[in-house]
Amino acid sequence: MARWMLVMLLLVCIVEAKLHDIKTFNVNDYGAIADDNTDNSRVFLKAWSDACNWHGRAMFRIPRGTYKINPIVFTGPCKGSKIFQLQGVLKAPINSPTSESTWINFRYINNLILNGGGILDGQGASVWGHNGHHVLITMGFAFISNSYVHQLSSINSQNAHIAVFSCKNMTLRNITLTAPRDSPNTDGIKLSKSQGINIKNVHIGTGDDCIAIISGTKNVNISNVYCGPGHGISVGSLGKHDDEVDVRDIHVKNCTFNGTSDGLRIKTWASPLNHTLKASNFVYEDIVIIDVEHPINIDQEYCPSGNCGNKVPSKVQISNVHYKNIRGSCKGDIAVNFKCSKSNPCQNITGIDVNLWSSLGRTGRLTNYCSNVHGAFYGKQFPPSCI
Ligand SMILES: *[C@@H]1O[C@H](CO)[C@@H](O)[C@H](O)[C@H]1NC(C)=O
Ligand SMILES: *[C@@H]1O[C@H](CO)[C@@H](O)[C@H](O)[C@H]1NC(C)=O
Ligand SMILES: *[C@@H]1O[C@H](CO)[C@@H](O)[C@H](O)[C@H]1NC(C)=O
Ligand SMILES: *[C@@H]1O[C@H](CO)[C@@H](O)[C@H](O)[C@H]1NC(C)=O
Ligand SMILES: *[C@@H]1O[C@H](CO)[C@@H](O)[C@H](O)[C@H]1NC(C)=O
Ligand SMILES: *[C@@H]1O[C@H](CO)[C@@H](O)[C@H](O)[C@H]1NC(C)=O
Ligand SMILES: *[C@@H]1O[C@H](CO)[C@@H](O)[C@H](O)[C@H]1NC(C)=O
Repeated sequence: MARWMLVMLLLVCIVEAKLHDIKTFNVNDYGAIADDNTDNSRVFLKAWSDACNWHGRAMFRIPRGTYKINPIVFTGPCKGSKIFQLQGVLKAPINSPTSESTWINFRYINNLILNGGGILDGQGASVWGHNGHHVLITMGFAFISNSYVHQLSSINSQNAHIAVFSCKNMTLRNITLTAPRDSPNTDGIKLSKSQGINIKNVHIGTGDDCIAIISGTKNVNISNVYCGPGHGISVGSLGKHDDEVDVRDIHVKNCTFNGTSDGLRIKTWASPLNHTLKASNFVYEDIVIIDVEHPINIDQEYCPSGNCGNKVPSKVQISNVHYKNIRGSCKGDIAVNFKCSKSNPCQNITGIDVNLWSSLGRTGRLTNYCSNVHGAFYGKQFPPSCI
């Protein structure tokens, strides 16, 4: 081989190695102390800043151990793609010293991977039901694009577990979110103003919605999600504030609801808006329902407090909702509830093979309820469709 060829080969190898090299920033090298007591937020921020500013791929690593940390913002833009690897346990403060509404924040980052099998412990039991406590959402993603979040657990969040706001192209996979059935406002995953979101192989058991899809969210695929306990997968609530934006293109497939209050729910407030808001193009298919109070529920008179004053018809227009192969047991009296708006009736609500029976067996009575709804149901229907 000619000498110049060897040199070229060597150069190519060096460039290749540099490209695949991941520079690691370990928080322990910055003086983090895993004693479950010392606040590590300043140390974490220094390590993050170095990882973020490293030209090329960098890994921010939190090794095994239990680290206490006050509310923190991991912010970009960064130079190159970043891996946030959590192997240890992070513990939230019980009385947050800051006014941040979210404990672990990620903002303005492109190409972020989160992994490591670690645990986020919100320590919610110390604040649930205590008035006047400033409660924290466990993890917040805002203005993040092209991210992959996996191998992560969140337990006992004080408020929601994960809030996703204004994000694009994000996958959440193989994560576990848990809090007790009676814990207040502990939504699993809350999506707003986001698009291109993929949620797969996720186990959620909590005290509020397993997944909540609110204002401005579109193009979401949800599959292989186990939800229970909790309040199901919900679109909404929508239609309370004038600045809300349409929600569309949501696909929910192969999910199980076990012991939840709701399964597949769309909820809108009976309150005035200065424009019509649209909620459209939803497909729910291959869904297993076990002992759920309201398996299929469109409620356009949503009012959880029961104290909503003079009701006006909801101005949220719901259309193109398809239910396919939904089966299982219902512990309430109404299997399919379509309580739509008088001023904006639900349009094109269709279903095929929706088969639900009472958890009480033959003694249980199960019916469907319809008002202001247009569409058609085919195939096996039990109880018989009222559309
Ligand atoms: C979406 O993000 C992933 C990283 O998680 C990336 O590999 C993929 O190329 C992105 N897709 C698009 C269309 O940008
Ligand atoms: C899912 O994540 C856990 C850690 O949270 C890990 O132990 C497990 O191997 C992961 N499973 C897959 C299929 O990636
Ligand atoms: C959702 O799935 C559809 C096809 O099943 C695909 O075209 C679309 O890109 C997916 N969206 C996301 C965000 O993964
Ligand atoms: C459906 O989801 C379950 C987990 O909830 C999973 O074990 C199973 O493989 C999934 N089926 C398909 C066809 O993806
Ligand atoms: C609705 O009202 C809000 C303020 O209440 C205003 O900001 C918004 O521009 C209005 N939207 C329309 C479409 O009139
Ligand atoms: C449903 O939940 C009950 C009570 O937690 C549990 O015993 C049962 O195994 C669950 N069923 C499935 C299919 O996960
Ligand atoms: C009705 O909804 C289905 C999806 O649920 C959609 O494919 C179809 O185009 C819609 N029909 C009309 C007339 O909008």
